[in-house]
Amino acid sequence: MHGSPESHPAGGGIQGELRTSMADKQVILIAEDDPNVGESLRHLLKKKGYETLLAANGKEALSLFRQGMVDLVITDLVMPKMDGIELLGAVKALRPETEVIVISAQGTIEKAVQAMKLGAFDFIEKPINPRVFSLVVERALEKQTLVLQNRDLRSKLEDKFHFKNIVGRSEKMVKVFELIRHIAPYDSSVLIIGESGTGKELIANAIHFHSPRAAMPFIKVSCASLSEGIIESELFGHEKGAFTGAITSRKGRFELAHNGTLFLDEVEDIPPSTQIKLLRVLQEGEFERAGGNKTIKVNIRIIAASNRDLQEAVKNGTFREDLYYRLNVVNIKLPPLKDRRDDIPFLANFFIEKYNQKYGMKVEGISQRAMNHIIGYQWSGNVRELENTIESSMVINSPKVIDIHHLPLEIREFKTRPEMLSIKIGTPLEEVERDVLIQTLKATRGNKRKAAQLLGINVRTIHRKMEGIGDPTSV
Ligand SMILES: Nc1ncnc2c1ncn2[C@@H]1O[C@H](COP(=O)(O)OP(=O)(O)OP(=O)(O)O)[C@@H](O)[C@H]1O
Ligand SMILES: [Mg+2]
Repeated sequence: MHGSPESHPAGGGIQGELRTSMADKQVILIAEDDPNVGESLRHLLKKKGYETLLAANGKEALSLFRQGMVDLVITDLVMPKMDGIELLGAVKALRPETEVIVISAQGTIEKAVQAMKLGAFDFIEKPINPRVFSLVVERALEKQTLVLQNRDLRSKLEDKFHFKNIVGRSEKMVKVFELIRHIAPYDSSVLIIGESGTGKELIANAIHFHSPRAAMPFIKVSCASLSEGIIESELFGHEKGAFTGAITSRKGRFELAHNGTLFLDEVEDIPPSTQIKLLRVLQEGEFERAGGNKTIKVNIRIIAASNRDLQEAVKNGTFREDLYYRLNVVNIKLPPLKDRRDDIPFLANFFIEKYNQKYGMKVEGISQRAMNHIIGYQWSGNVRELENTIESSMVINSPKVIDIHHLPLEIREFKTRPEMLSIKIGTPLEEVERDVLIQTLKATRGNKRKAAQLLGINVRTIHRKMEGIGDPTSV
């Protein structure tokens, strides 16, 4: 499930249609280099009640598709940068159940036939007959729904970590997703660095479930929660009698994760003596259980996570440099939420949808005023804090729409950054101008000369425009 507000365009600098309702509309991605054709298809689909995303070539389309919101792809065949056949191949590789409809112009019929062989749902010839087009789209989505229903049989876990459930439209997160897609299939170690609550565990899971190891175990070790005494036995297991209390032999997490992925969370907390053993497993893929002398071989991919930059721990001498380099083959930095505010409205609506489902509620969304506060807040607990805030305001108030007074005091009273303004798409320009004027005047504490300078107009114009507004600093 995924939702997004009416007010925020898709990130990444790519032209994106907005999701105008909460997650219940199907999203169709159109890849078409001819803007006239693209726009007219988009218009047609919108009239039929679909959401649309428009990309000018295959490459743009693919990066939109990677964000995981798309239900159906419609692509032209001949396009610059990446053509329709390549796009089809990529879409089928990433998510085979997604249907792709191909548009063929005169002279590309052979390519269209090739596309059908590669798994395209159907092809439509230009000039496009709107009735035929709508029918094909409907049929493709119908098939898609059936496939998705069957897919429910698949493990819930896998679904949870599907990219569809990781929200991120900011340029920074889109880059992270691209990196993950890229590196997931390989066995290289991954080090994820990010503040608490930025989604490290979610990303670790996503990597595993997009790797060939997906069907094998994903085993997590919270290194910080294990005392020095037991971490080795947790990781490597022990033989009966290895220490007082070892009444039976036991497999460690390394053995449990064989052929799968081992997630070392809070890796900076691994004590130095264990770091050496860890290094050996990483280098040679083997170890012994505590109190045992049989060498055990394992095939494991390691994903490690840390709240802080491990380089510092290396400098301080608390973390082995050689181990650091072994873990840090692929480095993923998850930016704090305040550095990707574009994601906030999408995340907020995603969580509303999530808790609507969980608790059988029907919260419709967030008022624009409340959203402005949410976007402007500091979110030191990052996504987890945002999620908790949404959940608690829903559970405590059961609101129809979450408004300012449903938010916790610290968010209500947090001063939104004066330099930021959030404007609903479709706001009449006159209103936009008024808002910008008011906020700029507020930011300059009513200093009209300064405001005029910032806005690139002269003071007289400000005076004139203000006539209908009154004293904005008292608003
Ligand atoms: N991009 C995202 N989209 C949807 N949900 C997210 C996203 N990022 C984080 N979350 C949710 O926020 C919560 C915290 O995420 P997670 O546990 O992965 O963070 P973390 O970085 O491991 O935190 P910590 O360092 O405290 O362990 C989870 O409920 C997770 O599902
Ligand atoms: Mg975590």
